[in-house]
This record gives sequence, structure tokens and C-alpha cells, in this order.
Amino acid sequence: MLKDRRILLGITGGIAAYKAAELSRRLVEAGAEVQVVMTRAACAFISPMTLQAVSGRAVRSELMDPEAEAGMGHIELARWPDAVLVAPASAHFLARVAHGLADDLLTTLCLATDKPMFLAPAMNRLMWTNPATQSNVSRLRERGIRLLGPGVGAQACGETGVGRMLGPLELIQGLAGTLTGDHVLEGNRVLVTAGPTREPLDPVRFMTNRSSGKMGFAVAQAAAAMGAQVTLVSGPVALDTPANVERIDVETAAEMQAAVVPRAGDAHIFIATAAVSDYRPLVAGDRKIKKSADRLQLELVRNPDILAEVAALPSGPFCVGFAAETHDLEAYARAKLTAKGLDMIAANAVGNGLAFDRDQNTLHLFWPGGDEILPTAAKTELASVLMRRVAERFHAQN
Ligand code: PMT
Repeated sequence: MLKDRRILLGITGGIAAYKAAELSRRLVEAGAEVQVVMTRAACAFISPMTLQAVSGRAVRSELMDPEAEAGMGHIELARWPDAVLVAPASAHFLARVAHGLADDLLTTLCLATDKPMFLAPAMNRLMWTNPATQSNVSRLRERGIRLLGPGVGAQACGETGVGRMLGPLELIQGLAGTLTGDHVLEGNRVLVTAGPTREPLDPVRFMTNRSSGKMGFAVAQAAAAMGAQVTLVSGPVALDTPANVERIDVETAAEMQAAVVPRAGDAHIFIATAAVSDYRPLVAGDRKIKKSADRLQLELVRNPDILAEVAALPSGPFCVGFAAETHDLEAYARAKLTAKGLDMIAANAVGNGLAFDRDQNTLHLFWPGGDEILPTAAKTELASVLMRRVAERFHAQN
């Protein structure tokens, strides 16, 4: 997957540094040549000797090291790799790179290289969501530095949330996708919605549906692998953010609309995979609904149709909708394609255990003047084919 690719693997100080040994080993197995560079803090978490053993090369850590500099100096080292991967990348490291500091070997290399740079953040969830870190992340992304993760899950500090370093295989996939992929969507911004929405009834109850987000996350991942700059607006799901994807979490349809519409004008392609609730309770009380009468009537009001709103934007993005139908799939899908003014729609049969929360799916694509069936396959595979068709039609129109 990474045969003969030269990867400079930076390791910074954090408990996730212990995973760097496995990552280095897997990179070597994938065919890469790996040169490890560790910060001093990283050496407190894992021994350079371990990294030397698994990478097969002497580890570098000091900037002012006359012996090492006499071999491959830091500027040569910055020129050597095909890509720089820093995993884990601590909050402090993100801040240093965002601000262009060069106060140790690794930050100096990051400043001195013009090779693609990938950072795999790992930190406590509050450190990740802190506005200071988020503003550093935005700066890094603006400079074309790609972030792989972070993922969601249990953290070493005992908390659960966003900030976990992605696993070695996910990191290698993210890296390989960019280094070896055919970047048919390079330079394009893709906006994707995924997952369900939750519409509150009272402070403890909500209406929702069975969407897991798997289809939408696979679409976002496929678009990123094709070189697009991807923003994923997701309802509540239990999935890790795909590599190189910016993720915005929302709960309700109104929140999804507020996250999507202002970004849609700037996007080249919009893909609405989310199962947005068509209705919400008219009243979402701030007190728990008490048990009283035998029957309780719930009054619902229509939610905004986000896809239709984006498709109606003057000079809006290339719009791809999904249609989830229990019956008359083709007729409803074609009707939605026309009624919402879409460029393409991906129809899937639902109910009877189909599509929702499954790893596999079957899609029937329709566009004005044509259609294609994508036979049953893993959602990740279907998403790649779908994105290829989207890229072809998008480029044909532009
Ligand atoms: O998440 P998974 O478990 O992987 O399941 C995947 C999926 C079945 C949810 C996905 O493949 C899918 O079909 N998503 C669309 C579900 C849906 O709401 O379909 P719809 O036919 O009701 O809506 C048509 C289109 O309008 C969709 O693109 C939807 O995102 C969009 N929409 C709908 C209502 C609304 N208020 N705003 C919208 O933008």
C-alpha cells in the first residue's frame, strides 16, 4: 500500500505515544521506509530504542546533535520523506506548528518541509474542543495540513469523547488514500450530511430514526480519499471521524440546517445522506411530560427541507440526495430528483432490516436522463463508486 514511500513519523508527548510502535511496525509492513523523530516529551512515554527496533533506523530527537547532523542534517531530513505523519500530535504540538515555532527538531522539520503533512491529534476531549485548539486546527487546515482524526471513545484520562488517536490501520489508510489515490476531487469542497436527527419532546425524550451514519461517513471518507476538502455535518452517531474530514456535530434538523446552509454556498458538491426528521413536535416542553391520561396526542410540525433549500440556492453546489423508501422506490426517487431540483439521487430500499444501520447497502442512482444500479456491497465500497459517479457528472457540468 505504501511500497517504497518514505514516511517521517513524528511522535510527540502523550499517552497515545505507546501506539506509535505498532504504527511504525505497520507502516514498515505496508512497504514504507520509516524515519522516526521524537520530541523529548515523547521519549518520556516510549523508549526511542523500541522505535528504532520496529522502524529499523536510528531515531532522531535532538536538533543540536553534532553527530546526527554530520549524517543527515535537519534540512536534508526535511527533504527526505514523501510525507510527514505526526502521531500522536499533542495539543501543544498543534499550537507550535500552527504558530510556526521551530524550537526542537520535529517542529523545525515541519517548518522546513514542503511535503504533505498529516497530524493525528490525541488529547483530552476538553483540550480538543477548547477554542484555542480549534483555532489552531483551523489555521493548520488553511495551510493544507491534513488532520487524521481524532476519534471518539474512551480516553486514558477516564473520560469519553472526541480526542482519541485513530488506530494504526485507520492512519495508514488515511495516509495511503492521499498519497496513492487519484485525486479527482482535489481542490473541491464537499459538504456531506449523515446520521439521524433528534427532535426533542421534552428534556429527556426525543423522536429519531434508525440511521447509524455509516453510509454518510463512508461517503465523506471516499470524497476525502479523492482529495476533496470534506466537511461532514452529522447527527448523533457512534462513529469515528474519517481521516482528513472536518466534522460538525448537531442534534436537530434545525441545527443541521444552521450548520449546512451557510456552508453550502461555498461548497462545490453537497451530498445529503442524513435521515433528517421530516417533522418535530410543535412543543418541546422544558419539563418532563408527566403520565396522566390514557391517550396523549402529539402535534408535529414540518421541519425545513435542507436538501431542497441548498438545491434552490442560486449558483449552489452540485446536489446529490438520497431517497429512503419502503415501496415504489424508483417512482419516489425520480419524483424527488425532479421536485427538489437535484443533480443526482441515490435511492435505497429501507425497512425489513435493509439499509439503516447495516454495513451493506444497495443503491439505485438516478440523474436527469440516466440511471445505474450499484449492486449490494459494503457501504464503504458503494460510497467509492458513488463518489466516482458524482465526480464524473460534476466535472462534466463544470
Ligand atoms: O445511516 P445508515 O444507517 O448508514 O443508513 C443510511 C441511510 C438509509 C440513512 C441513507 O442511505 C439514506 O437513505 N439517507 C436518506 C434518508 C432520508 O431521509 O431519505 P428521504 O427520502 O426521507 O429524504 C430525501 C432526501 O432529502 C435525503 O437526501 C435527505 O437527507 C434530505 N432531507 C430530508 C428531509 C429534510 N427535512 N431535509 C433533508 O435534507
